[in-house]
Amino acid sequence: MAAVNRLLPGSEGLPLVGETLDFAKNVFAFIGRRRARHGDVFRTHILGSPTVFIAGPKHTATWLDPTKIQRAGALPGNLLALFGGDADIVPLLDGEVHAQRKRCLLAAFSPEAIAAYLPGLESRMEALLAKWLENGEGPVTAELKTLAIESLAESVMGLKPGGPELTRLLAENAILAKAFTALPINLPGTAFAKGLQARDRILALLEGVVQRHIDSPPPDGLSRILAAAKVAGAPLDAKTAAREMHHFLLAGMIVYAELAATLRVLHEHPQVRERLRAEVLAHAPSGPVSPARLRAMPYLAQVVDEVKRTCPNVPMSFGRAKTDIDIAGCTIPRGTLVMMAVYESNLATVFTAPEKFDPERFSPERDERKRAPDAFAPQGAGELTGHKCAGFDFATVMMQLFAVLALRTATWDLPEQDLSIKWVVPPEHRSGLVVRWAKAKQVG
Ligand code: HEM
Repeated sequence: MAAVNRLLPGSEGLPLVGETLDFAKNVFAFIGRRRARHGDVFRTHILGSPTVFIAGPKHTATWLDPTKIQRAGALPGNLLALFGGDADIVPLLDGEVHAQRKRCLLAAFSPEAIAAYLPGLESRMEALLAKWLENGEGPVTAELKTLAIESLAESVMGLKPGGPELTRLLAENAILAKAFTALPINLPGTAFAKGLQARDRILALLEGVVQRHIDSPPPDGLSRILAAAKVAGAPLDAKTAAREMHHFLLAGMIVYAELAATLRVLHEHPQVRERLRAEVLAHAPSGPVSPARLRAMPYLAQVVDEVKRTCPNVPMSFGRAKTDIDIAGCTIPRGTLVMMAVYESNLATVFTAPEKFDPERFSPERDERKRAPDAFAPQGAGELTGHKCAGFDFATVMMQLFAVLALRTATWDLPEQDLSIKWVVPPEHRSGLVVRWAKAKQVG
């Protein structure tokens, strides 16, 4: 492979390790600092390979061009292993094979499918809020993680919270999560080796779940996916579908960071909170929250989108140059790893005061999204049928529903605590985000 064109700004760092140590310390700061220094396209050397980062809407068209960027061969081996050890999962597919698989997976997130998930999501969130209110004060991060996994597992796979399979999945995923931040050394007793063993148990469990759905489909998202694949003439076998479900659980879990961020920003921005509370009490003061009720609250959509834009969650997406790529007056040689800086791209100067939390930027009068194609891409750019996040609408609805239920049920504040951030993926509050709850005043 040719070396990355020297004219690209950036640095290769130390011999052998490159800039990997700095990268591993804090991926978000690594990308942010270099983008500030070098601009929207810069080179580095991480994880054993010359790598180019691109950021911001100006370069999204390059990133989305399938003749230039491929997903095959882009994910580091340790991550591939933890995601199932086989590149036949949707984020790593290209071309028609990807399009076909993605169409099937999206069947689990159609408007009808999401509408069917809402009652279950609502009762789980209400139960969690009731528990928090009863306890009065405590950390929320761990329970939001559980909420995110349970919500996806029940909606898509019909697994019951508290049931034996979901309880096992939660325990195994906790072991797996530690392997994502561990050194990738597969020796007996290491966190990475334990993660791989947990992965195998998860895949075996999910294969059983898929087989049950193939034999006798219940009304849930996985049945929709399997039916869509069958209609398309390419039925999914149990092993492949299990790997996709494993990726779904890992990808879907990260919504918890957005739910935590929602609690924090609404605490820190009382004007936003009270305006949103008024909208919620006008349109959904009690009772089931239907899609129509969510659609009737435009300010809710603005707030949720601004949380998505500002919440650090996914630092980057992985790609590889399929050909020599001319960009920013330089050439990225074919075969080079090319990363789209997801979080940084949403802080691009196309937005007014991009660091500021300001839901008004998404008002119909200002809508800053329209300033450039894909300016707003917190879950990847392009169309849903491309590599944009399959769970985009599901995450939106989870966040909207959570805000509605929290605001109409409770008031909250954040007592004295260490609100600094542990820069893992997704980043977490060191304190676990301790929240003090009180019952909301009854309306009407
Ligand atoms: C707010 C929380 C979430 C964030 C920030 C997020 C972010 C992302 C990002 C940045 C990508 C990569 C896009 C690209 O490579 O161009 C992605 C892909 C993906 N996400 Fe999400 N995601 C979230 C929630 C979810 C949920 C709830 C699911 C549900 C299963 C999900 C499933 C997926 C899948 C399957 C892909 C791969 C899509 C493909 O390659 O075609 N994500 N997500």
